[in-house]
Amino acid sequence: MQSDGLKHLPECLDRETQQEIVDILRICIGDAPLYTPAMPRSGRPFSVRMTNLGVLGWVSDKNGYRYQEHHPTTGRPWPAIPERIMDIWHKVSGYQHPPEACLVNYYKGKARMGLHRDEDEADMNAPVVSISLGDSAVFRIGGTDRRDKTGSIKVHSGDIIVMGGPARLAYHGIDRTLAGTSTLLKDGGRINLTLRRVTVPS
Ligand code: SIN
Ligand code: FE2
Repeated sequence: MQSDGLKHLPECLDRETQQEIVDILRICIGDAPLYTPAMPRSGRPFSVRMTNLGVLGWVSDKNGYRYQEHHPTTGRPWPAIPERIMDIWHKVSGYQHPPEACLVNYYKGKARMGLHRDEDEADMNAPVVSISLGDSAVFRIGGTDRRDKTGSIKVHSGDIIVMGGPARLAYHGIDRTLAGTSTLLKDGGRINLTLRRVTVPS
């Protein structure tokens, strides 16, 4: 497990803040609905549903992984990253420039995220900031090589994970979510917000 550069901030957001963010997200998702991405080449559907906020959104389909300015099904620009979420980035990232992408992942039932690295960004100096809302989950993190030993961290609603420095390119994923562990989302499940700087600031 790459612990250098990895920060787990338990209960970083209080319940009221979490609720405020969920309320804002509902409006954003009304404009930019959750959709089911597909794996490059095979076109196999992800078990996680996604959408994005920000000038750039991370998408995956048969043609590969990339960042783009428009929602793949509505064709509209992604909604802006709400100020409430921007504030969190500035508080915990230690990075001067704003994030350009906020990936919204929604996990329900057996949804999971396989081990991967966040490597589609040009700016690797900025950390990845990941916010957990709703049901708890088992977050797995290894090193920068896929074969490196991994460890798991239980993440709960309101927790924040920062992957910076040597941990910026660590393999990570979500083994599973633990249904019924939070009352934050009225239909259950888990939302993860992943904030990233994509381009190198000029
Ligand atoms: C991701 O790495 O894209 C998601 C991590 C998480 O859901 O906590
Ligand atoms: Fe990731």
